[in-house]
Amino acid sequence: MLSNEIRDKFLKFFQTQGHVVVPSSPVVPNNDDSVLFTTAGMQQFKPYYIGGADAVQDFGSLNLTSSQKCVRTSDIEEVGDKSHLTFFEMLGNFSFGGYWKKESIEWAHEFITRELGLTIDYVSVFAGEPSTSSGQGGVSEDKESEEIWKSIDPDIVIKKFGRADNFWGPTGKEGPCGPTTEIYVDGIEVWNIVFNEFFQREDGSLEPLKTRGIDTGMGFERLVKVMQKTETVFETDLFAPLMRVANSRIVVDHVRTSAFMISDGVMPSNTGRGYILRRLLRRAYVHARKMDMGTEVLNSVADAVVNHGSYKGLYAFAENIEVVMMEEIEKFKKALDAGLKQVEKGEDPFILFTSYGLPLEIIEEVTVVDKESFNKQLAEHKRLSQEAGEHKFSAQKDISANQEGRKN
Ligand code: ALA
Repeated sequence: MLSNEIRDKFLKFFQTQGHVVVPSSPVVPNNDDSVLFTTAGMQQFKPYYIGGADAVQDFGSLNLTSSQKCVRTSDIEEVGDKSHLTFFEMLGNFSFGGYWKKESIEWAHEFITRELGLTIDYVSVFAGEPSTSSGQGGVSEDKESEEIWKSIDPDIVIKKFGRADNFWGPTGKEGPCGPTTEIYVDGIEVWNIVFNEFFQREDGSLEPLKTRGIDTGMGFERLVKVMQKTETVFETDLFAPLMRVANSRIVVDHVRTSAFMISDGVMPSNTGRGYILRRLLRRAYVHARKMDMGTEVLNSVADAVVNHGSYKGLYAFAENIEVVMMEEIEKFKKALDAGLKQVEKGEDPFILFTSYGLPLEIIEEVTVVDKESFNKQLAEHKRLSQEAGEHKFSAQKDISANQEGRKN
């Protein structure tokens, strides 16, 4: 089954069950300053869970479904393995008081087993947790979900996990969250069903929500990998045309993510979102260079992303994506070449950090670095600039600043 068919099938299935299809919101959320990027399908619906907006008024239904563009860069080092991506789509169905556990579990089971014909390895439910002395936690075991799964299939394997695995949210500083039940197929967690029962405040305490809500998320690219039975996501029809242009998972992933960021208005810069885009483009360039591919290859990958047929919204931004990407990369290439020349002449590679602003991870890709000496110099440099009252280092903010959302 082609990826476009899988996405359509999902949205149609939930439409048939009384959900309204809502378009993806941009990768830059417009309703929450505490997150850099949209990391989950529920992000655009946050106000509907907490009574801050009315879904019936805005969409004509309490039950919605979408395929949401998401960016998660906290796992950037893992990009290049079988399934980690910095940009992905998330298929989801949502309810703000319309239905609860029974329907959401039954529909998920029906979609996975009957519509897609997949076999579930096992499912997981929340094991419960005691409350702490400061009154936090204290969420009970999810027996209801366990019973529902058993009533659907008495032989299904049910595992029970605690907060780290089977509790989701909130995105950003505060928001809706709750226990989850998750579906595993071919060793991969394909579907996360969140029972939003709580509002987590900034201090970590939980307050019951007035109206309970459903938030589900199925990583689209992973699902396509499972359906197309490929070794990694990069052989699916979502990536094969891009991999034919540049046979590098990192180049393909980072250019794809950059294209979506730029089309949603992000510009390279030294802080926040812009800095993440800058790092993605630099990493993409350095990896292409290592494989003896010129800068044009990044453009060709971006072209392949725009022309993929999966993401029609990108056509209008094709030129802008190319201009922003190429300007940034040309600037970077010049700085990198100048810096490397000095290193060749005997300068310490640390100069690539102080004078050219390159992070260690990139310096290591382009030249030999004595890490111990580098880190010593870095510590000393930081101490001196702090003494001087400078704040240069805010620009070197780690990419993990975008930590919201848990591992994809
Ligand atoms: N919001 C949940 C997730 O991102 C469904 O996994």
